[in-house]
Amino acid sequence: TNGSSTNIHWHSCSVEKDDRQKLLDQKGCVIWITGLSGSGKSTMACALNRILHQRGKLSYILDGDNVRHGLNKDLGFKAEDRAENIRRVGEVAKLFADAGVICIASLISPYRRDRDACRALLPNGDFIEVFMDVPLHICESRDPKGLYKLARAGKIKGFTGIDDPYESPINSEIVLKHGEPCAFPSEMAEKVVVYLEKKGY
Ligand code: PPS
Repeated sequence: TNGSSTNIHWHSCSVEKDDRQKLLDQKGCVIWITGLSGSGKSTMACALNRILHQRGKLSYILDGDNVRHGLNKDLGFKAEDRAENIRRVGEVAKLFADAGVICIASLISPYRRDRDACRALLPNGDFIEVFMDVPLHICESRDPKGLYKLARAGKIKGFTGIDDPYESPINSEIVLKHGEPCAFPSEMAEKVVVYLEKKGY
């Protein structure tokens, strides 16, 4: 065998996505948060998760840093490892959305093609990209984990924004720009909630 799946068949079941969504009174979708390290992805994800929970909506966070402790602990930060990291999280997020859950994926996801491949996994409209548009020098000044300092000192190689690329999104559904009036995580998350309401999720 070549290691990939052959002779496998899709198994369907009489309880469908729609039934689950009715049970939960919500629509499953993926909110994909992309941005540099230190741009506030995880903070935003938590704030959004809290608001949704308070409103009786079931959501679940898939965070790059956390997923890399388990499911993706075999992956590093080379371009192909990042691609595989994003691919797996995209597939898992798709399963969550199919379960009727509002899945919040929070990863740097620096390559446009990897993000777009995840978008392509979901029905039209169900993949909502949120770009944390924060300039590098702001992220670097925050440096919550001291990683930028290590990267500048050459102690981490291939750090996003320093000596590894970040391809800014062009067509994100939502852009949360640094320095705009709604600066608190809860206010930014509220913007996402307004979008979700408008789109019927
Ligand atoms: S990616 O690019 O989407 O696969 O990355 P992700 O899974 O989101 O993981 C990013 C977190 O890993 C830490 N880290 C690095 N980031 C970027 N480049 C390099 N070389 C690197 N090494 C470790 C870092 O803490 C990132 O966390 P966040 O939450 O983004 O700050």
